[in-house]
Amino acid sequence: MGVTSMNDRFFTLPLVPSHRREGIVIKPGHLVSVCCRYAESALPDIWKGATVDQGLTIGIEEIDRQHEELLERMDHLRDAMRRGQSSDAVRNTLKFLEQYAVEHFDTEVKYMLRYNYPGILLHKAEHETFLKDLAALKEKFTTLQAQGESTTFLGVDIVRKLNDWFTDHIATVDNRMGVFLAEKMPPK
Ligand SMILES: [Fe+2]
Ligand SMILES: [Fe+2]
Repeated sequence: MGVTSMNDRFFTLPLVPSHRREGIVIKPGHLVSVCCRYAESALPDIWKGATVDQGLTIGIEEIDRQHEELLERMDHLRDAMRRGQSSDAVRNTLKFLEQYAVEHFDTEVKYMLRYNYPGILLHKAEHETFLKDLAALKEKFTTLQAQGESTTFLGVDIVRKLNDWFTDHIATVDNRMGVFLAEKMPPK
């Protein structure tokens, strides 16, 4: 299966229904307003939604459940930013990601080792890169908080990072792993 067909199978992202846009708090001159407008015009993809029933699965139940959890967290942060409540959501998302990433990556490595997945080194390297990016985002958050500055734009960076992670890693690298594992794992 080629990468193109994986993407077709995985990421047909719908536009956000118009009723969800009604929740955006627009206050002229307010940073949140500027941020939302900037994000919607310059980074339109991060405001699109996706659900697991649209095919965001790689076929390994434990891993799919964890991917679904990440998707829900990303939606939660995005919705909080729309409501102008990004500060707590950014903090909570970073805290969640710190634990989630380690546990989720351990889960995938467990399967890759168990079935001798040949792409394990490349896959693990991408996980390491994500962890480094996450550490940098957390450091930025700490700095902004210490300086008493807004973390709204950092929220945009996090949503964009997670959005990229879904398309560049889960829908491709994880999916490739899932195809391999599905052939090796015994039928239920
Ligand atoms: Fe994953
Ligand atoms: Fe992965």
